[in-house]
Amino acid sequence: MENARRRLIFALDVDDFSQAQAWVEQLHDKVGFFKIGKQLFTRCGPDVVRMVRERGGEVFLDLKYHDIPNTVAKAAIEACKLGVQMFNVHALGGLEMMQTTVREVDDYCAAHALQRPTLLAVTILTSSTEQTLHQVGIDRPVDEMVPRLAALAKQAGFDGVVASPREVGLIRAVCGDDFAIVTPGVRPAFASLDDQKRVTTPADAIAAGASHLVVGRPISAANDPQQAARLILDEMAQALGG
Ligand code: C5P
Repeated sequence: MENARRRLIFALDVDDFSQAQAWVEQLHDKVGFFKIGKQLFTRCGPDVVRMVRERGGEVFLDLKYHDIPNTVAKAAIEACKLGVQMFNVHALGGLEMMQTTVREVDDYCAAHALQRPTLLAVTILTSSTEQTLHQVGIDRPVDEMVPRLAALAKQAGFDGVVASPREVGLIRAVCGDDFAIVTPGVRPAFASLDDQKRVTTPADAIAAGASHLVVGRPISAANDPQQAARLILDEMAQALGG
């Protein structure tokens, strides 16, 4: 069960500090990570990361950095100082941006005897279509861009990517087994689809090769969120082989 717990990421999609705190108190022993995204971080700032850490939770800082190499690397070091366990950048920022980030994060963590966080790259946002790419001058299919950017992230020394469950196979084929693939869009049988269109059950996502699952509303909107988290963990544990 501990193996499953370390792979479950709860999306802390709330807009104020006290709601975030209530979720962390309820779920810190059920999930491996709390995902803090742009809305909550812009509203509450680093204090919300500290709050999760103080309550024994680990943080996936989902700010998707994309800027010149030096700026992303410096932001990444600030994320390390906050003690986040996972953060991400856009792979479209390029090889040099990712390499500089890896180098500076490695140097910082070595100098301060810290464990390096898991560095993730976003390939192509799942809201993007072929048309979205075409409009910005990229004339390659999404299914070609996703593994290409994942391979670039791996080449830069990144630990993994964020991807939709249907992309997991394509990414595993080029990046191998030793690479994290974090997938949102997961819906257990007991939950509603909400606005997710292409969804996968927790067991199917694990079986497809996902290493971590991001789950929000199937837990937060459940009548009994702790029970919902337990059911998801059971399903993941079974798919992981016990
Ligand atoms: O509530 P739900 O389980 O759909 O939440 C999923 C989380 O993953 C949300 O924070 C959402 O923004 C994020 N996400 C997603 N689909 C993507 C990328 C991120 O649902 N393609």
